[in-house]
Amino acid sequence: CGIVGYIGPKSVVPVLIDGLKKLEYRGYDSAGIAVIEQGKVLVAKSVGRLSKLEEKLDAYTPEANIGIGHTRWATHGRPSDVNSHPHTDCTGVIAVVHNGIIENYLELREWLEAQGHKFKSETDTEVLPHLVEHFYDGDLEKAVQQVITKIEGSYAMAVISKNEPDKIVAARKDSPLVVGLGDGEYFLASDIPATLAHTRDNFILNDGEIAVITADGVKITDTQGNKITKEVFHVQWDAVAAEKGGYPHFMLKEIYEQPRAIRETFSSRISADNKRVVLNELSLTEEEIKDLRHIFIVACGTAYHAGVVGKYVIEDLARIPVTVDIASEFRYRNPIIHPGDLVIVISQSGETADTLAALRESKKAGARILAVTNVVGSSVAREADDVLYTWAGPEIAVASTKAYSTQLIAMFLLGIHFAQVRGTIDAAYAERLITGMREIPDQVQTILDDLEDLQSFLKKYAECQNTFFLGRGLDYAVAMEGCLKLKEISYMHAEAYAAGELKHGTLALIVDDVPVVALATQTDLYDKMVSNIKEVKARGAQVIGVTFKGNTELQKVVDHVVYIPETENVLAPVLTVIPLQLLAYHIAVARGCDVDKPRNLAKSVTVE
Ligand code: G6P
Repeated sequence: CGIVGYIGPKSVVPVLIDGLKKLEYRGYDSAGIAVIEQGKVLVAKSVGRLSKLEEKLDAYTPEANIGIGHTRWATHGRPSDVNSHPHTDCTGVIAVVHNGIIENYLELREWLEAQGHKFKSETDTEVLPHLVEHFYDGDLEKAVQQVITKIEGSYAMAVISKNEPDKIVAARKDSPLVVGLGDGEYFLASDIPATLAHTRDNFILNDGEIAVITADGVKITDTQGNKITKEVFHVQWDAVAAEKGGYPHFMLKEIYEQPRAIRETFSSRISADNKRVVLNELSLTEEEIKDLRHIFIVACGTAYHAGVVGKYVIEDLARIPVTVDIASEFRYRNPIIHPGDLVIVISQSGETADTLAALRESKKAGARILAVTNVVGSSVAREADDVLYTWAGPEIAVASTKAYSTQLIAMFLLGIHFAQVRGTIDAAYAERLITGMREIPDQVQTILDDLEDLQSFLKKYAECQNTFFLGRGLDYAVAMEGCLKLKEISYMHAEAYAAGELKHGTLALIVDDVPVVALATQTDLYDKMVSNIKEVKARGAQVIGVTFKGNTELQKVVDHVVYIPETENVLAPVLTVIPLQLLAYHIAVARGCDVDKPRNLAKSVTVE
């Protein structure tokens, strides 16, 4: 989603619309603005592209000097006029735009409803204007401070009120927000591109900071109201670089967005005491989960690879047989589906033709459908019986990264949830897995920070024509994804192999200097994996090993080791894949490839 705000001498509507146009790439389900015209809050919003909002505003364009705007990528509540931002309180005095997810919104909504607040939308955001209304006693800034103590989750928000028509109050936690400093005018934006046409000087808000913006200046405080002095951040980027947040490619930006995307996907779905996975959004009852005889996982491309991890995890934890299929095969192979079987379809876009066709075939056969998708209201989401959304945010690069890692989180959540319901996991192990999941965002960040020098090391691999990715168990599943990443964007041939299978044929292709990426994170299979590494080393391969920090043995048998932080074996894929994404990225850059738009490929394939 994107947020803009403006206060100053200019007419606000064109400034907001212009800012939203620059942010449309971040979400385009719907758009809206709220301005204060002659002491009244006026809201205009519309489902669909920004042009729809512009059409509405053509009928009447408010004349105002303060306002906020939003372009939406739906998470809670499908795209519709009423679910669009800005959201208002009961009497239309307060308007709020918000990015992020309010995790405890259901609880807050019930609490507010019990006190007579009437809600109009299905969004989590709508609790915010009602909470501001609840706490307001003549000071908007104080009210926002109190709201922050009540909400859990991530937010960048901007609030206006007709009672204090000269200010915007903004706050952030885990979702970006900047204040643009103009000459006698101020801007607010979730992302720099929105304000770049007006100013290059910004205050970048940190978590827990609140900005009060008036035409006379900006005051920044902590959540207790203590003043904070900020340095001005002068943006050097041009407009194209700004869209990518300063990264050279969307793919790299999205790789770096993974800590946040992963956290958003799990955090409202695990209990505060780390003891249980809570998937309230599923209509599958405990009885139905206990009765499950067979699960199919069906998907294409990267999503299929998340499905392969899903098979290992669900079978291991919940002891339910899982068949994982490529959608274009599944739909034509006359699969043996019994009524009551569960078919999990995974699709970032929710629009892939093969996946959708497989879903429909399964439905006809009487299966129960659970969709794991990143796009609210997508075809797959609409046609499934249940949806578990990944909250990765819009993914623009064709090669999927943050969608994959959040799909893995969805697989972990389902695996643990099914296991807890069926009693196939002991409480202590479940707690270790859930605690481990909580640590993943920071661990991913550590890998990203540690691997900045990967680039120089990879140069020599950029010349190769052929490479192999080896692993056993879950490492094999990740090898498949690492390999696809490399093929998609660097056009280098790569093959993923279950390391134990090498000797049955492919070993013939291992000759001097063939690069091999060997994943060795799975404890039970570790010794076997080391034997396989020795087999390829003996034939002259150049091996990059990936293993947990603290393993001092692997470096003795490989040429280079990439370390990842230690975690439970089951959770390792979400860490192991990060160096593989970076490897593919840097090799593609070194080979001069068009990283974000690889030849012959499309982000979403809606034809067969
Ligand atoms: C296309 C993309 C892949 C993606 C696959 C499935 O082929 O190029 O990156 O993994 O579709 O997409 P979905 O949206 O269903 O996850």
